[in-house]
Amino acid sequence: MRHPQHVAIIMDGNGRWARSRGLPRSMGHRRGVEAVREAVRAAGEFGIQYLTLFAFSSENWRRPKDEVDELLGLLKHFIRRDLADLHKEGVRVRVIGARDNLTPDIRGLLEEAENLTRDNQRQTLVIAFNYGARDEVARAVRRIAEKFAAGEVPLEALTAEYLDDHLDTAGIPDPDLIIRTSGELRLSNFLLWQAAYSEFAFLPCLWPDFDRKAFREALADYAGRDRRYGGLSREIAS
Ligand code: FPP
Repeated sequence: MRHPQHVAIIMDGNGRWARSRGLPRSMGHRRGVEAVREAVRAAGEFGIQYLTLFAFSSENWRRPKDEVDELLGLLKHFIRRDLADLHKEGVRVRVIGARDNLTPDIRGLLEEAENLTRDNQRQTLVIAFNYGARDEVARAVRRIAEKFAAGEVPLEALTAEYLDDHLDTAGIPDPDLIIRTSGELRLSNFLLWQAAYSEFAFLPCLWPDFDRKAFREALADYAGRDRRYGGLSREIAS
């Protein structure tokens, strides 16, 4: 089966999962972390080189403080508890998103995860944390403008590839497949630039229910897609 090299997931529906069971939203997020662990393991087994997970958006700060604290706490707990195992499994961790407005403890943990796993090659887990695509592009453009103003780069060098190299995702291939759970049909400011030719899978299941089987089905569906990148379909071209 033709597998994507990079799968990116918008993990949506934790709150609805909890509400449907009469539980607090925090329980949905906690079960969501279990689904994260299963998705990382499954991606490794399926031979998917890059898995990106949208863990916290730059807009999620608008949620009630309790919930924001819960989500930040879960990320910290996940890194503290799972980092050694991820490292042992040969997983490289990369984090995309803005760092400057994060507390030193979270920033330190994210750097620790990236530094420890820097040389791992079996699989890359990209955690999108405090991430918003427009913010990512704006930060990249600002860095490029600084270089241009300092005379370090000529105008002709400012190509799409050059912008690519200044995004948080520099060096990571564009996502082949973007999955969103919970039936919502939106990209919600996730990887807007990188999604130019991505395939999409919008699944009805809520994130805590996303398991190996749902993952395999999304991959099977992807395997049947005809990716044309602006060219002709396989049948017409042959
Ligand atoms: C969307 O559900 C989910 C989130 C905003 C956060 C996802 C975070 C996790 C699964 C846990 C932390 C992640 C890691 C990598 C350790 P929602 O709350 O928007 O659900 P709703 O739309 O049903 O209310």
